[in-house]
Amino acid sequence: MPGLALRYEAAIGALPDQTAAAPRRLLVVRITHWIAVLSVLALLVTGAGILISHPRLYWGETGNIGTESLIDLPIPFIIGPSVWNRPFHFLAAWVLVLAGLAYVVGGCVTRHFRENLLPVRTDLSWRGIAGVISDHLRWKRADDPWTYNVVQRLTYLAVVFVLFPGIIWTGLAMSFGVTSVFPVLATALGGHQSARTLHFVFAGLLVLFLIVHMAMLCLVGFASHVRAMITGYIPPEGSTR
Ligand code: HEM
Repeated sequence: MPGLALRYEAAIGALPDQTAAAPRRLLVVRITHWIAVLSVLALLVTGAGILISHPRLYWGETGNIGTESLIDLPIPFIIGPSVWNRPFHFLAAWVLVLAGLAYVVGGCVTRHFRENLLPVRTDLSWRGIAGVISDHLRWKRADDPWTYNVVQRLTYLAVVFVLFPGIIWTGLAMSFGVTSVFPVLATALGGHQSARTLHFVFAGLLVLFLIVHMAMLCLVGFASHVRAMITGYIPPEGSTR
């Protein structure tokens, strides 16, 4: 019974629902996306708590009050805001790593990356990319707000395959336990303090992505797109707000 098999695979998220009138967001993408949202929020709050206890950034292996800094963040030192920041930061980080692995495996198995995130070759021109950016800057809505455009695809791929690995690498490179076994993780970046500075830069890029992500969702219809990312259901053409 091919119809029943198709319906079953769509229900577990292995396939987009080909039997329904509208395409659906994959279950594995939805679950891992919302776990990532909660983990990232926890990481940003606890990360800020850790940073304000020493808001100076250095380059190289060591750095402290007595040494010259690379950047002095314009916030006062607040020593020991909470002892819970570090344990919760590490907990949220491992939850994010596991969700990320599930997303990457699920995305490969379901061909989600190939079908929905890899840009179509014909869209990959400077003119096409500049056109999408210029439309967004003029707050002009795309003809089909339910298909990821080339800029969205490139951005999501960069977040998943560059930003997150970068955050994880620099995070692990700050751990003396980890670098005692794999010192190259820190030395390749220039030292523990360089890893800390790069971790901060990656986190800043993630915040920038979040701001643009939210602005783009407002442009295409925040409520309908968040609803689709929760339920998987994409409304019929015309009721996208
Ligand atoms: C409250 C915060 C967030 C909301 C409301 C939100 C909402 C959404 C929605 C509705 C989509 C589908 C886009 C569309 O329909 O055009 C989406 C996709 C996506 N979001 Fe978020 N998002 C949030 C935070 C994040 C965070 C923190 C990350 C990074 C970890 C992230 C990464 C992504 C990625 C990579 C996709 C593409 C997923 C795919 O199809 O594979 N989002 N988000």
